[in-house]
Amino acid sequence: MLPLTISAFLQISIMQTLYVTTPIYYVNAKPHIGHAYTTIVCDVFTRFNKMLGKNVKFVTGTDEHGKKIEQSATKAGLDPKKFTDNISQLFRDILPVLNIFNNDFIRTTEERHKKAVSAIWNKLSEKGYIYLGEYSGWYDIRNEAYFSEDELIDGKSPLGGEVTIMKEECYFFKLSEFEDKLLKFYDENPDFIFPETRRNEVLSFVKGGLKDLAISRASFKWGIPVPNDPKHVIYVWVDALTNYLTMLGYPHESDMNNNQYWQNSIHFVGKEIVRFHAVYWPALLMASGIRPPKQIVAHGWWMSEGEKMSKSLGNVQDPVKYCKLFGSDSLRYFLLRELSFGSDGNFSLEGFIGRYNGVLANAYGNLCKRVLSIAQKNCSGIVKKTEDEADFIKEIEKILNETIELVEKYAFNRYLEKVETAIAFANQYVDQQKPWAIEDQNALQNILHNLLIAIIQITKFFEPVIPIAASKVLSQIKVLDNKDIVVTNSDDSLFPRIDASKIGEFDVFERE
Ligand code: MSP
Repeated sequence: MLPLTISAFLQISIMQTLYVTTPIYYVNAKPHIGHAYTTIVCDVFTRFNKMLGKNVKFVTGTDEHGKKIEQSATKAGLDPKKFTDNISQLFRDILPVLNIFNNDFIRTTEERHKKAVSAIWNKLSEKGYIYLGEYSGWYDIRNEAYFSEDELIDGKSPLGGEVTIMKEECYFFKLSEFEDKLLKFYDENPDFIFPETRRNEVLSFVKGGLKDLAISRASFKWGIPVPNDPKHVIYVWVDALTNYLTMLGYPHESDMNNNQYWQNSIHFVGKEIVRFHAVYWPALLMASGIRPPKQIVAHGWWMSEGEKMSKSLGNVQDPVKYCKLFGSDSLRYFLLRELSFGSDGNFSLEGFIGRYNGVLANAYGNLCKRVLSIAQKNCSGIVKKTEDEADFIKEIEKILNETIELVEKYAFNRYLEKVETAIAFANQYVDQQKPWAIEDQNALQNILHNLLIAIIQITKFFEPVIPIAASKVLSQIKVLDNKDIVVTNSDDSLFPRIDASKIGEFDVFERE
C-alpha cells in the first residue's frame, strides 16, 4: 500500500522518466568509501523517485582504458585485460553488498561501448571538428590530461598529479569553437550545473578561453583505436564520457535527442571531475548533434578521521567492513546524513556510531519495537480502525511531504533530518499517550492505529536509505481492506545498539 501522502502527490505529478548515472570508476584501485558514496547517493535518489512513481534507469560501471591503467597492469605483472577483469569485478561485487539496485553495469572494454565511441568519433570527424596536429606540453598521467607550462602549480598539474614533458602527434577536437555556444547554453540552462559554486567555477573557466583539446594518444596502446588510424588510441575521457550514451543503446538507438532517458539525464559526479562533464562533454555532444545532458550534479569529498584519506596514513575507510559489521542500511544512512551534499565532510567511526545509536537504534528502532510489541501483547496483534484520521497523522504527513522538495534539490541530509523530525514527533506521541497504561480497548486501538499508520508512512520515506530494515518493518504491519491492521513478529531488533566503549576493537580500515 502506498502511504496516503504519496498517493496524493501522485495525483498531481505527471509520470516522469529519469536517467541517473554514476561516474564510471577507474580500475586501478579497489572501491573505497568515496566510490561507495557516489553510488549510494544515486541509488537513494533512484529509489526515492521510484517511490514517487517515476520511471528511473540507473547505471554505473568501470573506466578501463588509458596509460595509467596500462601502467598499473604492468606493475602487477598482468596484461591489461586480465588486470581490468579482476578489478572491474570488485566494483561489480560491491554493489549487492551496498544493496545497490542498478539497471546496467558497463565496462569500457565491452564491444557495445567500442562501437559507441567509434561512432561518436566518426560523427565529430564527418562534421569537421577533428584535425591532426602535434601536441607538446606537460602530461598528467594520473588524470590523463595535458597542461601548458603556465597552468602548472608548484611543478604539478592543476589537478594535483605529477607531470612529465611529452611531445606527440595527435588529433585535436575544435573545443575553441564552443566557447560562446557553451556560455549561451549555461545561460539558457541555469540549472545545468549544480551546485552554484561549481557552476561559477565552470563559467569562469570557459570565460577564460578554451583551447582545442587533444583527443588521441600515440604513446601507448591500451585504448580504443582511432577509426582509420590505429596507431592512435582515443583519449580516455572521450572514451569514458561516451559510456552514458552506450548504456542507452547508442549508436544502434541513434535518435538521442528524442530519447526520454537522455532528455532527463542526471550525471552525479565528484567535484574534481566537473570540468570534464560540464565543459568537454556538452561540447563534444553539441559537435555530434546531440543535446547535452540535463544536469551535472557535483558532490564534495570525504576526509577520514579528520585527514585526507590515504593508503600511507592507513585511514582509508573500507565500505565492505562497515557493511559486515553494522549492515549496509546503516552505512547508507550515515553517508547521506553526515555530509551536506556538495560540501566536503569527515568520516569517523565515532561519528558513525553516534548517529547509528542515536537515530537508527534509539529513535527509529525503539519506535517500531515499542508500538509493535504493545500491539501484539495488548491487542493480540489486531488493531481496529475506530476513528477518523487524527491531526497527529496529518502532521506526520506534512513533515514527510517536505522531503520531496529537499530530495529534488539534492539536500539529502536535510531530507533525513525531516524523517528524524517525524520519528521524534511519533515518539513524543507515544510518550504523551502512554498506550501501555491504557485499559480501554477502543481508546488503545485508536492510538495504536494512528501510530502504526505513522510508522508505515515514516518507513516508506526512510526506505530509499534503509531498504532492508524498512522492508522488514513493512512486512510486519499489514493493513486490511477494511483498514484494520494486523501486526506480526515484533521481536527482532532492527538495529542492535553498538557498544561505543568497544570502538577500538572494530577493524574498519582498508588493509593491503
Ligand atoms: N574514471 C573517472 C570518471 C569517468 S566518468 C565518465 C574517475 N574515476 S575515479 O575512480 O577516480 O573516481 C570517480 C569518483 O569517485 C569521483 O567522481 C568521486 O565521485 C568518487 N570519489 C573518489 N574519492 C572520493 C572521496 N574521497 N570522497 C568522495 N568521493 C570521491 O574519476
